[in-house]
Amino acid sequence: MPSHIPHYGRVSRLLHWGMAALFGVQFITAIAHFAFPDTALEAAVWGTHKPLGALLMLLIVLRLVWAVVDRTRRPASVNLAASLGHLALYALMVAVPLVALLRQYGSGRAFAPFGILLMPGFEGEIEWMTAVGGIFHGLLGWVLLALIVGHVGMALLHRRMAGEDVLVRMLPRLGTHPDTGGR
Ligand code: HEM
Ligand code: HEM
Repeated sequence: MPSHIPHYGRVSRLLHWGMAALFGVQFITAIAHFAFPDTALEAAVWGTHKPLGALLMLLIVLRLVWAVVDRTRRPASVNLAASLGHLALYALMVAVPLVALLRQYGSGRAFAPFGILLMPGFEGEIEWMTAVGGIFHGLLGWVLLALIVGHVGMALLHRRMAGEDVLVRMLPRLGTHPDTGGR
């Protein structure tokens, strides 16, 4: 039965931990912008927020596609709350950069993350787009951060529960495994 396979596969783990690291950087830049405006810290890190956010948007789309393709091979969630929590993480991972890109587009200003011209820009502004982004981007961004903190907390808490150490499912396979011969 697929649900008895105890580990996430290599691609899922790479996406999970790679993106966790990038989200860490993304939130450091957001916190610098929010809590330390006009300081050397903000000046040093805020410039990466938009390009890194755009890269995260791309990775999230790839991760979503992979989650669908891989769904029958993944370990089952420990309970309904875990399923709903992961679903909410996915929803916010999409919504947060999406509304920011919508606002960016609506502003009419050109946008070229990493020198790649994504939005050439135009005269004027599309007000509903800038309004939606203005209201929701930061707000939902902080909700996502709160959810991530809860997610990490629950992963650590589950280590103490018998038979529910979900963290090992996201770590490399140790020892031999019938599927993979060790890795
Ligand atoms: C998953 C990716 C992203 C996350 C987690 C994220 C998170 C955040 C957070 C928490 C804030 C609030 C900071 C504050 O209140 O000062 C913020 C602000 C901002 N973000 Fe992002 N962001 C992401 C992607 C993007 C993208 C793709 C863009 C633009 C292309 C962008 C542009 C901005 C701008 C201009 C602000 C300052 C204005 C505001 O608070 O809305 N972000 N971001
Ligand atoms: C130190 C940080 C983190 C730890 C310790 C951690 C731990 C875990 C663990 C143990 C699982 C497997 C849970 C299970 O099978 O029931 C998991 C899955 C998941 N995690 Fe994390 N996580 C971290 C960071 C993040 C971040 C930053 C995000 C998103 C922004 C995230 C999103 C997810 C999602 C959506 C899943 C479901 C499986 C998947 O699609 O990858 N995690 N995490």
